[in-house]
Amino acid sequence: MNAMDGRVLSVPEELVARYRTRAPRYTSYPTAPQFGPISKDAVDTALGRNAGPMSAYVHIPFCKSLCHYCGCHVEIHARRGIGAGYVDTVLAEADLVAARLQPGRTLEQLSLGGGTPTFLEPDDMARLVDGLRARWPFTPKADISIEVDPRTIDDDYLNRLVDIGFGRYSFGVQDFDATVLAAVHRPQPADLTLRAVQTLRARGDFDLNFDLMYGLPHQTPQTFRTTLETVVEMRPTRIALFLYAHVPWMKPAQKLVEKQGIPDSTDRSRLFVLANEVLLGAGYEPIGMDHFALPGDDLLRAQASGTLQRNFMGYTSRAGLDLVGLGVSAIGGFGGVYAQDLKDREAWTARIDAGELPIERGFVLSDDDVLRRDVIMQLFCNFVVDLPAGAFADERARLAPMIGDGFVNLVGDTVTVTPLGRHFIRNVCAVFDRYLEADAAARRYSHTA
Ligand SMILES: C[S@@+](CC[C@H](N)C(=O)[O-])C[C@H]1O[C@@H](n2cnc3c(N)ncnc32)[C@H](O)[C@@H]1O
Ligand code: SF4
Repeated sequence: MNAMDGRVLSVPEELVARYRTRAPRYTSYPTAPQFGPISKDAVDTALGRNAGPMSAYVHIPFCKSLCHYCGCHVEIHARRGIGAGYVDTVLAEADLVAARLQPGRTLEQLSLGGGTPTFLEPDDMARLVDGLRARWPFTPKADISIEVDPRTIDDDYLNRLVDIGFGRYSFGVQDFDATVLAAVHRPQPADLTLRAVQTLRARGDFDLNFDLMYGLPHQTPQTFRTTLETVVEMRPTRIALFLYAHVPWMKPAQKLVEKQGIPDSTDRSRLFVLANEVLLGAGYEPIGMDHFALPGDDLLRAQASGTLQRNFMGYTSRAGLDLVGLGVSAIGGFGGVYAQDLKDREAWTARIDAGELPIERGFVLSDDDVLRRDVIMQLFCNFVVDLPAGAFADERARLAPMIGDGFVNLVGDTVTVTPLGRHFIRNVCAVFDRYLEADAAARRYSHTA
């Protein structure tokens, strides 16, 4: 067993209880709660700093109904019509961004997330992607992905997505158990997902991801095993196994989830271990904290070569690219800053209509932030990092109990996370987060276990 192998088939309950705390999932460092006012000049300068291929994320906030567990930035609408104007405004935002970027930039990666991107009418979807492509041509091997709610899409729309050029499809599944899904207000028969998978497979060899969630009401090892067995039969190329993040002070609908009874941390840990057992048994390989993929997946290749990265969309193999965020609440990271769009759609629209970038808040990274970000990302993604010689004395000392508990090894300047430590990676990374200790608002993060 080695660190990259990452097989954890049991986690002592005493450790789960002792290390249970609130900590970020480090899709950025510093994390979004640290963002604050940022000047227009700082954003303009950062946008103009780099050249070459980049990534873009477009946030489509609309959904037809609210899943009570949802932690995303969403707006519920019964009708699709609202999407047309939204696409116009996203493209206007793209123009504002393009005017600040160096000429000739291309897209190596485009991700549409939400909310539910497939809430858009197919013609609006085509207009959005074609519009972005016209501003920033795709590179030959561009990774073009979309989050798909199987409840909002039919065969015609899926075929249209293929024609538009999407190569990676991420399905919101969560669970296949009817009782669990009813408790969180997301009825979704397995047939819907299966049909979408079959439709895409009939068109080609696409990367298909399933989002699963554990820690939901009424999930038991029995129900979850059945769900996992159904999942592996459908054979998605990649699986994201998210721990339900319970943050009801930010997402009031989650109080309805709480009323149904959330499994405790010991039960949640058992569900995670069970999922490892079933997925690894079915030939999947673990990636980072909570992803799995079939051999050949490019995230696995990136992990094997130590180049796996993490950004607001999760794990990525496209390292170190500028990321432009478009759409309400979208976060970009480029040229040494993070910048987040306004969350309120009317305010966001008004700002763009006035010809200004709709940035609400952001962060200019210092050299220390960049160094810590590299350490945290290396640990979170690749489970090993070489610390600069002589640096991080306090942090090395704070790793000592974790070394004692078998989470990490520290040999010379090299920190290696053990397979057991993978389960506690948020705790390990938190040691290097200089904002967390002082941050009375650590309460704002979800639990680690
Ligand atoms: C934007 S949604 C996926 C697309 C589409 N809206 C859907 O639900 O099918 C992204 C994913 O975030 C995950 N997610 C949402 N709320 C979460 C929470 N509170 N904790 C953990 N994961 C969450 C779900 O797995 C969900 O599939
Ligand atoms: S999980 Fe997906 S469909 Fe459900 S509310 Fe959240 S974004 Fe919308």
